[in-house]
Amino acid sequence: MKRIGIVGGTGYTGAELIRLALTHGEFEVACVTSRGDAGTPVTKVWPSFAGFLDLDFTEPDPGRLAECDLVFFATPNGTAMTAAPELLARGVRIIDLSADFRLKSIPSWEHWYGMKHASPALVAEAVYGLPELNREAITGARLVANPGCYPTATTLGLIPLLEAGIVEPRTLIADAKSGVSGAGRKASLAHLYGEVAENFHAYAVDGHRHYPEIVQTLNAVSAEATDITFVPHLLPMFRGIHVTLYARLRERVADLQALYGARYDGHPFVRIEEANSHPDTRAVYGTNLCRISVHQVNENQLVVLSVIDNLTKGAAGQAVQNANLMFGFPETQGLTAPPMAP
Ligand SMILES: NC(=O)c1ccc[n+]([C@@H]2O[C@H](COP(=O)([O-])OP(=O)(O)OC[C@H]3O[C@@H](n4cnc5c(N)ncnc54)[C@H](OP(=O)(O)O)[C@@H]3O)[C@@H](O)[C@H]2O)c1
Repeated sequence: MKRIGIVGGTGYTGAELIRLALTHGEFEVACVTSRGDAGTPVTKVWPSFAGFLDLDFTEPDPGRLAECDLVFFATPNGTAMTAAPELLARGVRIIDLSADFRLKSIPSWEHWYGMKHASPALVAEAVYGLPELNREAITGARLVANPGCYPTATTLGLIPLLEAGIVEPRTLIADAKSGVSGAGRKASLAHLYGEVAENFHAYAVDGHRHYPEIVQTLNAVSAEATDITFVPHLLPMFRGIHVTLYARLRERVADLQALYGARYDGHPFVRIEEANSHPDTRAVYGTNLCRISVHQVNENQLVVLSVIDNLTKGAAGQAVQNANLMFGFPETQGLTAPPMAP
């Protein structure tokens, strides 16, 4: 059994980490933190865990966290980068669900996140935790930067095309939609039920923080520089991301299904759906799955649909997948339950 700590246990991704850890089989939830609810039973904030977990929230005290084998940071940007050096020095492995270690360019990170990076020396060491791209490096890592939710759905949908070099790499489009849990649990007027229900809109069209992260990954797999128009939208539902991707084909491809199937062969969480199908978010609800379908709509135009659960493959599930790789457990350990549907 590995002792795990969760910093930020009153948030949505923290709760999803607890939920997955409770049935994992190799994880003991040793420490769950909250500054606002320290001393309160976890089940007071999350009654759904009553009978499954008997633990109080604690302050994010480094001494206590250092007793864990691995600590997940399910915290806002800027938190993990200040705590990581001490924990790593004490032999604790870290998976950060925030963006602190995702971008390799420090100036770019400081531009997009509007603060000075507290641990620039650790950025080079951090492994970007997309197992479908970096499985081997994750296996030996002590610091993993868990990808963002939109970047996970977007890049998984485009990687096969860019690796094969068969699409125009600078005219890509990602029309992305997320449920409100993507914004976290902190109170915000824009995310009140009364504002979200029966409503639908785009946001951050002029620039979203996930844009540089997406381009960084696409450039890593493409022989030529890439660019993408990324437009996120807020959906009136709780969980789920649906990304519609547009790419211009440079050459005819005999069998796109085979291309995608071969690329993700051996990657248990990426499912290539039947040609011309329309995966829905319910088909991934509460799971670590990414379902992808590929459509060639005319001579040159490809449309790729990619759906994930933002809290699971987009955050906590992918973090557990990474932890499995880091500890040498089967990659799917604790992540095999089918979607909760209908
Ligand atoms: N929601 C998603 O779908 C999603 C997907 C991918 C990645 N992420 C990323 O994952 C991280 C967590 O997201 P979330 O949606 O779970 O956030 P959230 O619901 O807002 O929860 C944040 C948690 O962090 C704790 N916290 C806040 N400031 C802290 C600090 N300075 N030190 C220690 N703990 C602190 C909060 O509890 P206390 O204030 O009581 O300590 C709370 O438990 C974010 O960086 C987010 O961008 C989220």
